Amino acid sequence: MKETVSPARSIDGVITLPGDKSISHRYGMLAAIAEGKSTIANYSTGADCQSTLACMAALGATVERKDGLVIVHGGELRAPAADLDAGNSGSTIRMLSGILAAQPFTSKIGGDESLSRRPMDRVVKPLTQMGARIEGNKIEGRDNNFPPLTIDGQKLHGIDYTLPMASAQVKSCVLMAGIFAQGDTIVHEPIRTRDHTEIALAEFGADIEVKRRVITLRAGAKLTGRDLVVPGDLSSATFFLVAALLAPKSNLVIHGVGLNPTRSALLDFLTSMGASIKVLDVQQTGGELVGDLRVNASKIIGGTIEGALTAALIDEIPALAVLGAMSERGITVRDAAELRVKETDRIATLESNFQKMGIAIEAGSDGFHIPGEQKFHAADLDSAGDHRIAMAFAVAALSADGPCTIEGAESAGVSFPEFFSTLRQIAS
Ligand code: S3P
Repeated sequence: MKETVSPARSIDGVITLPGDKSISHRYGMLAAIAEGKSTIANYSTGADCQSTLACMAALGATVERKDGLVIVHGGELRAPAADLDAGNSGSTIRMLSGILAAQPFTSKIGGDESLSRRPMDRVVKPLTQMGARIEGNKIEGRDNNFPPLTIDGQKLHGIDYTLPMASAQVKSCVLMAGIFAQGDTIVHEPIRTRDHTEIALAEFGADIEVKRRVITLRAGAKLTGRDLVVPGDLSSATFFLVAALLAPKSNLVIHGVGLNPTRSALLDFLTSMGASIKVLDVQQTGGELVGDLRVNASKIIGGTIEGALTAALIDEIPALAVLGAMSERGITVRDAAELRVKETDRIATLESNFQKMGIAIEAGSDGFHIPGEQKFHAADLDSAGDHRIAMAFAVAALSADGPCTIEGAESAGVSFPEFFSTLRQIAS
């Protein structure tokens, strides 16, 4: 599906966003294995999080939707009648693999074409160390395991594991397996990544301790159902923050956004570049921080994203690249090889769309530089099926010198089905 986006001078209004994608996945999975009933308010409407619920239902959990709530009756899982479908969702396949590896049955989990090309050794290796039996698919010329994964459930044992890369999905996979393992599971993180799994596990009653970058999950705790509210998705908010910063007459309020410190480096980074963003009315729900954001048009200096900051902003880089091109000094991204194995090779999909808009970008194997003070030219853009590329270039189109089209705009629905309708409400 093609969307046309016209230039806008103002991003104005008050909006709320669907629930955080990362937190929704975790609540959906943990509710399904916890004993009894959980209610989840503001569960993400994105297709990825629906894939997680469909998998959990196929594994025997009862999942209902009522009055805007997702209601899950969890407990022991059972063998699925058919192969599990994670759709486009790396989080679903990687985190759920940890649960499946410990079940007394065999299951097979795969997904769409994009997911089928994403590397799975990062979860196969630690799970195998825990005693799992997993067989993946091979792709000629690439040394890794790929979906679908056939997982022959085993009795697992805890391990002491140091993550070879900064990945919350891998950390979460090991912790999910650890829930069922004999003995403690210890994960060391080289760089701190989002800690929603640790927080959610504690909420559901797990015995978990976090000391700096070492997480210890003690064996034997029983998880029980909870009533939870998912904060609005800060990664989805990023597209509107960037749109409002760039449009000359903006005044936007976003209500109820997740402000977990392992995610909110985004706000510090934007503020350090001159963004006018105010955080209002911060509260806690289910161990997660949530608050309102007020953003106004601002002159952006530009900056560098590298090291731990790259890991903290990994999903925000497409939107920040758009901001960088219109900043004073441009933007440099380093240490971001992970971008090459996201829903698309995001360095390549950024490069090709920027080139269509007449924007200079120098791309390398693990990053890129975009000089500042550039002007976006109207063009026919292509999401390549990647939700964050579709939304980032919709934001770029707002600053172009004429209307742009975005091919594959429907991919925004992977995390944010309401994106284009919300944009139409606030852009003028
Ligand atoms: C996620 C972690 C990140 C992120 C993804 C969601 C999560 O991936 O890019 O969109 O929910 O844990 P990695 O952990 O692979 O970096």
